[in-house]
Amino acid sequence: MFSESRILCPQLKNKVMSAEQAAAFINDGDTVGMSGFTGAGYPKALPGALAKRAEAQRQAGNHFQINLWTGASTAPELDGALAAVDGINMRLPFQSDPVCRKQINNGQMHYIDIHLSEVSQYAWSGFLGKLDIAVIEVTAIHEDGRLVPSSSIGNNKTWIEQADKIILEVNSGQSLKLEGMHDIYYGTALPPNRKPIMLTKADDRIGDAYFTIPPEKLLAIVETSAPDRNSPFTPPDACSRQIADHILDFFRFEIQKGRLPKELLPLQSGVGNIPNAVLEGLDTGGYKNLTAYTEVIQDGMLKMLKSGTLSVASATAFSLSPTALDELNKNMDFYREKIILRQQDISNHPEIARRLGVIAMNGLLEADIYGNVNSTHVMGTRMMNGIGGSGDFARNGYLSIFVTPSTAKNGAISSIVPMVSHVDHTEHDVKVIVTEQGLADLRGLSPRQRAKVIIDKCAHPDYRDRLHDYFERACASARGMHTPHILGEALSWHENYEQFGKM
Ligand code: COA
Repeated sequence: MFSESRILCPQLKNKVMSAEQAAAFINDGDTVGMSGFTGAGYPKALPGALAKRAEAQRQAGNHFQINLWTGASTAPELDGALAAVDGINMRLPFQSDPVCRKQINNGQMHYIDIHLSEVSQYAWSGFLGKLDIAVIEVTAIHEDGRLVPSSSIGNNKTWIEQADKIILEVNSGQSLKLEGMHDIYYGTALPPNRKPIMLTKADDRIGDAYFTIPPEKLLAIVETSAPDRNSPFTPPDACSRQIADHILDFFRFEIQKGRLPKELLPLQSGVGNIPNAVLEGLDTGGYKNLTAYTEVIQDGMLKMLKSGTLSVASATAFSLSPTALDELNKNMDFYREKIILRQQDISNHPEIARRLGVIAMNGLLEADIYGNVNSTHVMGTRMMNGIGGSGDFARNGYLSIFVTPSTAKNGAISSIVPMVSHVDHTEHDVKVIVTEQGLADLRGLSPRQRAKVIIDKCAHPDYRDRLHDYFERACASARGMHTPHILGEALSWHENYEQFGKM
């Protein structure tokens, strides 16, 4: 019955099988490229079946691990299930799963943390080795074999083209009305044959709405009917609202100065409480016809599209609460005109982020007094999630804004430190840092000027004197130095946080 409505290609119907049967095609040591980005569009059934296979193989005394590539983070049914049976040898390019995180940090799982725009180039160039199997969730298969993509695109185009063999999951839990929302660009090439990407506005369409696969590569089709990992949305707290207010004031000031148009520039916003609070603030701030050129569409952007604050949102995936998903599904005809889902090498493309002048807003773990940012490593060694797309947008955007509460762990850790314990975004890429205490605009400032502004505007009052004291002693002890530091002391600052190192 279900196959009749979603799998319309007669020649492919004999490929339909159970997840367990499909999982049997995957062997120890295989490299598998799965769909999935921020909990959207990941395969729902095969990973669980594969985890069972891995466990059964282990019980039988056989080694069984795969190398797992995706678009970005997935869900407990994928990352969590495979990690729980120690089924992943190598993971890339981004994850946020607690079980994976634990294994990465205890050395059990290898992890390569890559700029999301670059993953497909790595794969195409052969830097990562061979891709054996792609496992891709789709919404439907047409009579002629064209695939209607699902709620994320991520690296699916690359996995389909690069993998030796393909397994499809056709998910009837995804709305058929997603069809037409996607824009898959087939013009990418490796140097020296690259051409300019002719995308000059967030709403430009430059590709096709479908994937195609060579039928001889297709191993199996698994039918599923399950929702994405749609986590409930937590309303912004007081700290997020204060951070949002500082950013909204900053935007007003920049418009007054003529450095931003009244429609701003295309917004890129990381996922989470603070970015959502900024979006809510924009939605009630009298703005109209804003645009978004971003990675992920979350609840706030959907609301802005509905109200007309936002006229278009280009991304590679959704990350919605169940309520927002319901709103999307009920009004898909309205949203389809305003949302474009692209592959992540285009949604995050440096050339396009620079051309459009994206306003990038992302979170951080710690920033130092000179403006270097650590987004990934707690205490310089323990991986939290990964750099994700933050580097793609921060380096190439018109404005790169980093946001954080001024302290972590109930005030026990200052987010502003003398020297970050790991660098993801250098002082050259960071233009604005915002905490609930205030906003530090670092543009046009030398390192010594930046230090004073960051401490005064962003550090929590409990840590301000200590940071000033450090800075002044560093200036005195390093006369003539461009970026004053007392190295041993700067690094020992993090030792105060040792008790949090086990997280
Ligand atoms: N030292 C130790 N722990 C810290 C810390 C610090 N300096 N700063 C934050 N933390 C802890 C928090 O206490 C919290 O821990 P908990 O989960 O046990 O409560 C956790 O890190 C997350 O911090 P939170 O303040 O809730 O921030 P967040 O959810 O906004 O996440 C990042 C912040 C940096 C982890 C997140 O933005 C990220 O992964 N960024 C990199 C990828 C990215 O930017 N993607 C977007 C591109 S589109």
